[in-house]
Amino acid sequence: MHHLSTFVTRPLVAALALATVGLVAVHAEDAKPAAPALANSLNPNDKSAEPDEKLLKKDVAVKVEDGKYFDAEGHPTFHVTDQGKKVDWYAYSGYRRYHAECHVCHGPDGMGSTYAPALKDSLKHLSYEEFIGILAGGKQDVSSSEQKVMPAFGDNKNVMCYADDLYVYLKARAAGAMGRIRPGDKEDKPEAAKKNEKECLGG
Ligand code: HEC
Repeated sequence: MHHLSTFVTRPLVAALALATVGLVAVHAEDAKPAAPALANSLNPNDKSAEPDEKLLKKDVAVKVEDGKYFDAEGHPTFHVTDQGKKVDWYAYSGYRRYHAECHVCHGPDGMGSTYAPALKDSLKHLSYEEFIGILAGGKQDVSSSEQKVMPAFGDNKNVMCYADDLYVYLKARAAGAMGRIRPGDKEDKPEAAKKNEKECLGG
């Protein structure tokens, strides 16, 4: 018994130590104000955007890696510039994928329908992990008398290869960084996006 318990505890202690280091790192980044290059510049005239100051602050990018922006928690996030006229590649790609795969049920621009919830609202509280989990595994409202089903897209490459793109676009809608206007300009498609797309669709 004694042997077994040391065997089990050691990796746990190591994991806890790692987790603490991770938390400290996040807090350090949290404290820094957004670097000017990472700040968002929204369209002041787009009444359909409904900016949410709290979410805009929480979702702000603290780093960029090959055209992909990340928030203080290390999750993908949006980058809107030029007074809302230009968006990062993933937000733009997510906008297109959303309107190809999701809008039939969830309504244009994440506005919702009588059948499925408004994702511009859902993404105000859903975490990245929850979003990816629902996307891959689906969801069924058991309390509803009608059978309303969110399909599982886990096997659909046209959706799963663009899961981050969808997340980034819907986060931008939830925070009110993007309105109901088609994004005018976009950042160049990053090399990493081209590579991942090829590997994901082909593999
Ligand atoms: C066939 C219709 C349909 C399609 C297509 C569809 N959904 Fe859904 N989705 C639903 C329904 C219905 C629900 C509500 C299910 C429930 O609450 O049990 C839902 C729920 C969700 C939720 C959870 C929302 C919440 O507030 O908990 C997310 C996230 C979601 N869908 C994302 C997507 C994305 C992204 C796409 C496109 C890739 C998509 N859905 C395509 C019908 C659909």
